[in-house]
Amino acid sequence: MATGYTIWLTGLSGAGKSTIATELTQVLSERGQRVEVLDGDVVRTHLSKGLGFSKEDRDTNILRIGWVCDLVARHGGVAIAAAISPYRAVRDQVRASTQNFFEVFVDCPLDVCIDRDVKGLYAKALSGEIKQFTGVSDPYEPPLNPDIVVNTATETLATSVARIVAALEARGYLPAAREAVAALA
Ligand code: ADX
Repeated sequence: MATGYTIWLTGLSGAGKSTIATELTQVLSERGQRVEVLDGDVVRTHLSKGLGFSKEDRDTNILRIGWVCDLVARHGGVAIAAAISPYRAVRDQVRASTQNFFEVFVDCPLDVCIDRDVKGLYAKALSGEIKQFTGVSDPYEPPLNPDIVVNTATETLATSVARIVAALEARGYLPAAREAVAALA
């Protein structure tokens, strides 16, 4: 059975987690891997429906996502989590209870996320209409020791994805591309 693993994308809202998850899914699927994405926005409409954004609810959300990721990984699949997951302790708890956990810090300065404001939520957070908004009125604790950091303000999407793919290969989670293997023969 293929090696299952979890790619955990953490970062601010609007940093680019979902975009990277979509692109990674495409690349890894083309490489023959079976990929499942757990996106915070989607999970919150099903598995985590009804949860809010208190620390307790966010932690519950993250533990649920981590639990499903581990199930997928145990069956040889690739689970990609795309969730803000702002609290370090609960991310580390998931890491400890998930086989082959690969943490990606999707780094992007807050002012760039505010400029992008893809969903219009930062404007509402800044005006106080939305409370407890990560980065504005709620904490975000960046990983101290992520497996890789991608910076979506300075790198293209293609570069971020290529760097993650190379790191997965280096870790042995993803077999090297056929072209690369052929070049070695
Ligand atoms: S997490 O903190 O529990 O990891 P998750 O990634 O599932 O969050 O959901 C974040 C998404 O919920 C954001 O991208 C945004 O669309 C929406 N959202 C609504 N309210 C908030 C809030 N107070 N803080 C952060 N995101 C919020």
